[in-house]
This record gives sequence, structure tokens and C-alpha cells, in this order.
Amino acid sequence: MLEVESLNQYYGGSHILRDVRMTVPDAELTVLLGRNGVGKTTLLRCLMGVVPTKSGTITWRGSKISSMATHARVASGLAYVPQGRDIFGRLTVEENLLVGAASRKAPSKIPDRIYDLFPVLRDMKNRRGGDLSGGQQQQLAIGRALMSEPQLLILDEPTEGIQPSIIRDIGRTLRQLVDEMGMTVLLVEQYYDFARELADRYWVMSRGEIVAGGAGSEMDAHGVRELIAV
Ligand SMILES: Nc1ncnc2c1ncn2[C@@H]1O[C@H](COP(=O)(O)OP(=O)(O)OP(=O)(O)O)[C@@H](O)[C@H]1O
Ligand SMILES: [Mg+2]
Repeated sequence: MLEVESLNQYYGGSHILRDVRMTVPDAELTVLLGRNGVGKTTLLRCLMGVVPTKSGTITWRGSKISSMATHARVASGLAYVPQGRDIFGRLTVEENLLVGAASRKAPSKIPDRIYDLFPVLRDMKNRRGGDLSGGQQQQLAIGRALMSEPQLLILDEPTEGIQPSIIRDIGRTLRQLVDEMGMTVLLVEQYYDFARELADRYWVMSRGEIVAGGAGSEMDAHGVRELIAV
């Protein structure tokens, strides 16, 4: 389980995360929802150690990771698919995947299971990342994160700007990672129907605070769609 306790973060003088408290249970898919600019990406960056936290603790499977460097968090089992994907456009698909294994010793081959999850990446392994469609790049970004063999996969709005057929594929893949491989997934999402369909649990963030949470099956009854409607 990932546990976040009283997390606070500031950009300059503005208080972005306010006493954030959240748990992400093992082998479940947890969705974090919230409108634009409420601090979702900032929270994920704090989880990964890409930005420092002002106060509070992050505990992963009983160990405090909040002061660890990003690479140490990756070594402890966390992986991150950033918003906007951050694919290397001039590297091939295969090279992009190998970058994801850079923290592990002597990576030289892409495991079959990555290509089995995303067959399109096998077909396109010698193409440049920049030549892929947005949806294919998103699949590549997920595949790259899986190269470190994470136990907790963190994704930031993977459906943003992607065609519906690939959104469905990505949803199926995420469920497969949880249900068949026992992975823990934390998904930041604004697309309500996608989130509702996938979520075992949910949290809602508003202006840097967690304002609601519960079982995924309760999202409709709890009015989450209205909470995040623009
Ligand atoms: N590097 C930065 N420096 C200063 N302010 C920032 C920085 N990054 C984000 N912010 C501000 O912090 C707030 C939270 O941003 P964040 O990107 O975490 O929100 P978000 O919930 O991920 O939004 P979106 O749904 O648009 O991705 C916003 O007001 C944003 O303008
Ligand atoms: Mg964001």
C-alpha cells in the first residue's frame, strides 16, 4: 500500500497541495480525479520525488520514501507515465523502451511480455517515437514505465488527446496488469466514464485538497461526475 500523510507543496508563494492524505491499496486500481489545475500532476511529481515536498510523508509498503531520490523510488517499485507522455521523438520505439530500463543492470532486450501487452510496439519497434500516433505514443510511454518491472504504476491522464479505440485498449491493459499480474495502479484522470469503469477506489482533489473518496462502484452515487464537471 502507498500512504500519503499531510503532504504540503508550494510553488513560490502559492500553496498547491494542502495536507493531502490518500491511500492506494495493493493490487487495486485507484483513480484520482479533479478539474484542471487542482494539483494532480504536482501530487504525482511529489510521489516520484521529481519535485520536493515541503512537509508530510509518503510511505510505500511500510518504508518512508518521501526523502528518497527518484531513481531510488523507481528501484523500490514505483514507475511513472507522465502527462503528455514525454516520448523521445528521434529515438526508435525499441530505444525508448530501453531508456525505461536504464536504471536496471545490463538491459539489452525488450521482454516479450511488454510486446505481448502492446503488440503495436512490436510491429513498430524500429520506427521513430515521433512517427507514432498519440495513442501509440501513450502505449509506448506505458511500456517504457513497465520496463523497470514496477509494483506500483502511476499514470497521469493517459487518455488525453487519444482516439476512443486506443483508450479502450489502454483500459483493458490496465485492468489486466491489476487482475492478472497483481500490480497496483494509481491513475490520474479527468475522463469520468473511463475512470468510473476502471476504478476499484477513487479520490477527488479540489484546489489541492482531497475532498472525497470511496469505492469505485460508489462514484455515481457519490456524485463524482458533478464534482469534476467543468
Ligand atoms: N512549475 C510550476 N511553477 C509554478 N506553478 C505551477 C507549476 N506547475 C504547476 N503550477 C501551478 O500549480 C497548480 C497545480 O498544477 P498541476 O499541474 O499540479 O494541476 P493538475 O491538476 O495536474 O492540472 P491538469 O488537469 O491541467 O493537468 C496550477 O495552478 C498550476 O498553474
Ligand atoms: Mg496535470
